[in-house]
Amino acid sequence: MKILIIGASGLVGNNCLRYFKQKDWNCVGTYFSYEAANTVFFDTLNLDNENNFNVTQFKPNVIVHCGALTHVDYCEQNEAESYEKTVVSTKNVITIANELQAKLVFISTDYVFDGENGPYDEEANVRPISVYGKHKLEAEQAVLAANAQNLVLRITNVYGDEERGKNFVSRIIDQIFEQQKLTLRLPIDQYATPINAADIARCMYLLLRDNKSGIYNIAGTDYMNRVQLALTILKYFPEAEYELIPQTTTQIAAPAARPLQGGLKNKKFMSEYPDFRFNTVDDYVNHKSIMLDDMEDAE
Ligand SMILES: NC(=O)c1ccc[n+]([C@@H]2O[C@H](COP(=O)([O-])OP(=O)(O)OC[C@H]3O[C@@H](n4cnc5c(N)ncnc54)[C@H](OP(=O)(O)O)[C@@H]3O)[C@@H](O)[C@H]2O)c1
Repeated sequence: MKILIIGASGLVGNNCLRYFKQKDWNCVGTYFSYEAANTVFFDTLNLDNENNFNVTQFKPNVIVHCGALTHVDYCEQNEAESYEKTVVSTKNVITIANELQAKLVFISTDYVFDGENGPYDEEANVRPISVYGKHKLEAEQAVLAANAQNLVLRITNVYGDEERGKNFVSRIIDQIFEQQKLTLRLPIDQYATPINAADIARCMYLLLRDNKSGIYNIAGTDYMNRVQLALTILKYFPEAEYELIPQTTTQIAAPAARPLQGGLKNKKFMSEYPDFRFNTVDDYVNHKSIMLDDMEDAE
């Protein structure tokens, strides 16, 4: 398997890059503005950029597209830029995949749903309520229409190991480790299915190995809101100093609407891979807290 991962300096792409390399797949990962270890430059918005990695020469048989503008409120306020960075960029990647006859994997979200009755399965009716959600839906539909072999993985609330440690769970753990006092104003009414990026990589590996296509939800067994997620982390760090201020989404009044009862059901994936075990947030944070204790003991 020869794989190009676009957006391998990010959370999901980098976990895929590391896992696929461990599995001895011939894999190249790209960055755009942050040069993560073992990545090469590629800009999906300017295919003629002379600094772009030479994809034609590499000739991957799979392209995993993780490049995106993921800041939901920024997208709401900058609709044209969101369209460029999600829809146009994906159409550019579709063009490359078609030229090379490569299978394309697109990473989508539960924001394609309205959040009135999640968690959702793959067949549920889509109705995005934000600019980000609308653009992700348009991009995933373009990917599915381009080639029956293409794959769309829907995910939400991703956490896990990443160089920049910018995801919600990593940021809380890092601040605790730096002995900062945390002030957490968090929505109590937004429910989702948090997923470890390492599990997304493990699932994608199996789906690619078995040449699956169509839409798959990649979600673990946790179903929680942000306050519950924060408390799950904090219980492993009894020494942490924090103030937790639960708020409703209405009180927060962010620019973009959120699917409140969001999240995804993994029934389809589990029916095809019944022995697969997803990590929980507890598994991840417990492991992290033990590692950090060991690091402190060693100092
Ligand atoms: N994180 C979540 O909770 C979540 C939830 C649902 C869906 N998703 C989807 O999962 C995918 C990956 O998200 P993530 O969390 O891994 O995001 P991320 O950490 O922000 O990574 C985004 C990646 O896109 C790259 N990128 C940005 N603009 C680019 C361009 N013009 N050309 C090429 N690459 C570009 C970034 O490169 P640089 O950083 O080097 O600039 C980075 O590697 C996205 O499609 C996102 O919508 C994520």
